[in-house]
Amino acid sequence: MRGRFITLEGIEGSGKSTQMEFVATYLAQQGVAVVRTREPGGTELSEKIRDLLLTDELAGMHQDTELLMMFAARVEHVNKVILPALSAGRWVLSDRFYDATYAYQGYGRNIAIDRIDQLRVYCLGDLTPDKTLLLDVSLTVSQSRVAQRGNKDRFEQEQQDFYARVREGYLELARNNAQRITRIDAEQSIEHVQQAITVELAELFSQ
Ligand code: TMP
Repeated sequence: MRGRFITLEGIEGSGKSTQMEFVATYLAQQGVAVVRTREPGGTELSEKIRDLLLTDELAGMHQDTELLMMFAARVEHVNKVILPALSAGRWVLSDRFYDATYAYQGYGRNIAIDRIDQLRVYCLGDLTPDKTLLLDVSLTVSQSRVAQRGNKDRFEQEQQDFYARVREGYLELARNNAQRITRIDAEQSIEHVQQAITVELAELFSQ
């Protein structure tokens, strides 16, 4: 049986890392063999590309270079990690996937969505997550959490209008893919967020 593919998305400060931990633990408790991974990253080469994408030393990077590097990292990740795991019946839990490219490079950097569609199909064919959990927080919460971080990466240094577009992009993606993407109000208490996540995961088991 093919494994399930779950992704977590959200702007900076949405609590993604905490909830990744929660989902991984929940799945393991259900007896699921889960491969936990992230984007950009997930393979040795993709992690090197991640370093290039995130370092604040390359502040003037062209937006198309950024877009292509996201997909270059993703092609490695999909072919070396995600597809082999799914075919072996394992579940894959990824901290971000292609929705992040639509949100950040599409809505955030204003790259045309149909160009991202073309690249996605070229690089990934019809590979789509089975379930995407969008952890949604307001810009105010996001900014105040990011402000507490020490060394800010190239994305964390972006201005509020960039993050406003990214968040709006994620919300629109959720509206346009209502079956797959579930928006979770991540400003609720951690217990309520985890309850909402559990409901979504339980549904995956019943399918
Ligand atoms: P992370 O800090 O959540 O691990 O993500 C790294 C940064 O990369 C984050 O600011 C979002 C950004 N990103 C994109 O801009 N496009 C993408 O396709 C992905 C996967 C991440």
